[in-house]
Amino acid sequence: MKEKDELKKEIRALLKERSAIMLAHNYQRDEIQEIADITGDSLALSQEAADSIAKVIVFCGVRFMAESAAILSPDKTVILPRMDAGCPMADMITPEDLIKEKAKRPGVPVVAYVNTTADVKALSDICCTSANAVRVVNSVKSDRVYMIPDKNLSHYVSLTAKKKMEWWHGYCPTHERLTAAEVSKVKAANPGAVFVCHPECHPDVVRLADHVCSTSGMYKFANETLAKTVIVGTEMGILYRLRKENPEKKFIIASKVLICPNMKLTTLEDVLESLKEMKNVVAVPEAIRLKAKAALDKMLAVPRD
Ligand code: 13P
Ligand code: SF4
Repeated sequence: MKEKDELKKEIRALLKERSAIMLAHNYQRDEIQEIADITGDSLALSQEAADSIAKVIVFCGVRFMAESAAILSPDKTVILPRMDAGCPMADMITPEDLIKEKAKRPGVPVVAYVNTTADVKALSDICCTSANAVRVVNSVKSDRVYMIPDKNLSHYVSLTAKKKMEWWHGYCPTHERLTAAEVSKVKAANPGAVFVCHPECHPDVVRLADHVCSTSGMYKFANETLAKTVIVGTEMGILYRLRKENPEKKFIIASKVLICPNMKLTTLEDVLESLKEMKNVVAVPEAIRLKAKAALDKMLAVPRD
């Protein structure tokens, strides 16, 4: 087996040779984040996929993220190093499910979290991520909104959005595993610590948070907080950069269950092999792509904070 350093060098050289860019989600393994050109949350990565001049995008994340890149940049080759890296939440709503829900609410706009398949995005009016969900929902020209697929994110948005909201009952199995009892225990053991969590967490957990935000929002929060200890309620891959960027602060993961098996599939060997052979290319049928792109483009046009 090759040493990690050797693999990293080979990947970086091959990326250059292929005019490729390596994007990594904040939940990826440390060694993947270390050599990526860009690490970020779903919003930052889709913006990068739309704007980058690279010919090839190696997407270290899960399938819906690579699909979004392929939808936004059809002229680029998008590689997903592990084709089996899916998102169980995205698979919790099918196009058939959504067609039925839309029929129950004629004319009500559908806001789709990016954690959905391309087919489902194609049936939606506008996409959102955890970083812009409230802004996107408020931007819709209707007083009613149907949000899919995450019941927890939808509930969180409904607390502040100025819309009458209904939603689908999907969830992220990783975030859903975190309980309020566990968080309370960690808080009690660390007086003075602040608790930050992702809106994919259960409402009982969100209620205990000092701050709720996307994964990239957590880097900003960690940097700005005056607290010395931060309890983190999201997938543990986030710890890599939090600790690197804030060596003077202590970060405690709220629970050992906060690990997404799909996000951890991609290894350096997978990246090297897929790039060498230019395999695992993600493509979306053109009719679906155009409709899904309209929903993603609408999201990207919503003014940022
Ligand atoms: P963000 O990085 O956009 O906050 O999303 C979290 C997530 O669960 C992605 O799968
Ligand atoms: Fe999907 Fe949850 Fe994993 Fe994100 S953390 S990819 S929402 S299962």
